Amino acid sequence: MRVLVTGAAGQLGREISRVFAKHDEVVALPRAGLDICNHDAVQRVTHETHPDVILNCAAYNDVDEAETDPVTAMQVNGFAVRSLATVAREVGAVLVHYSTDFVFDGETNHPYDELASPGPQSVYATSKLLGEWLACGAPRHYVLRVESLFGAGAEALDPSVRPRGSTLDRMVDAMMAGRPVRAFTDRTVSPSYVPDVAAATRALVKGKAEVGLYHCVNTGRAIWFEVAEAAATRLGCEPLLSPITTGEVQMRAARPSYCALSNDKIVAAGATMPTWEDALDRYLTARTAR
Ligand SMILES: NC(=O)c1ccc[n+]([C@@H]2O[C@H](COP(=O)([O-])OP(=O)(O)OC[C@H]3O[C@@H](n4cnc5c(N)ncnc54)[C@H](OP(=O)(O)O)[C@@H]3O)[C@@H](O)[C@H]2O)c1
Repeated sequence: MRVLVTGAAGQLGREISRVFAKHDEVVALPRAGLDICNHDAVQRVTHETHPDVILNCAAYNDVDEAETDPVTAMQVNGFAVRSLATVAREVGAVLVHYSTDFVFDGETNHPYDELASPGPQSVYATSKLLGEWLACGAPRHYVLRVESLFGAGAEALDPSVRPRGSTLDRMVDAMMAGRPVRAFTDRTVSPSYVPDVAAATRALVKGKAEVGLYHCVNTGRAIWFEVAEAAATRLGCEPLLSPITTGEVQMRAARPSYCALSNDKIVAAGATMPTWEDALDRYLTARTAR
């Protein structure tokens, strides 16, 4: 199987490239190798490489910055996905595109499934929802909603060679450096461990699962503070942790407060999604086994 990975220098792109490369021929292109907003380049590269699968890991992910730069957010997260869907159709490739829990308004108290109606509350969220719709232009597509990604490059000894990382990665960095950490007590999430997302992606593609929308998160849910507390306990640095609410932090973009996702559909389709606690344990083992 030949696989084209876009956004290959990002936290998911790097791990996806690594996991697929164990079995498949991978063409991994960072932004410098392929700007997905350049339709001509997307078309040229795709027709040259003729992939069986296009894994779109490129994204504009600055949730707050998107409020003041909506055009770039819409271009990268929305319209560029249309280009990818078009070329996927032309070469007969499967298109895998990643989206987010932020497409929901967070005004609920039970995990969202794939049938729940979106209600994006920010420019970033709206741009990602547009991307979901446009990905469906590829006859064979998977749209995988991930959430609170963590654990990219956990095995890298040198933090400077790890991808930027997300909230939990930064929390763990701070804890391991003995710095204080604050975690939200009013946001509920289903964290997604990057290696588990990569493995689930390959399981869907290889298993020829039914195309469509899937929630690709680890099993379970927790308030951010509980996730941070579990990490702090494991690292033996509970005193570094303190609670905070979203109202205490100035953020340009709204965050949905309850965004646990049900992963029943992707598990039924053959992917293994361990609990977030199990994933956190593997992550911290990788981070501390040096
Ligand atoms: N991180 C999270 O917690 C989270 C949560 C929910 C959903 N997601 C989704 O999961 C997917 C992977 O996210 P991630 O955390 O791996 O993102 P990431 O680390 O920010 O990586 C995204 C990559 O896309 C590249 N990129 C940006 N614009 C591009 C363009 N026009 N053409 C080609 N590449 C471009 C970026 O390059 P530069 O660094 O040069 O800009 C970066 O390397 C995305 O769809 C994201 O929306 C992530």
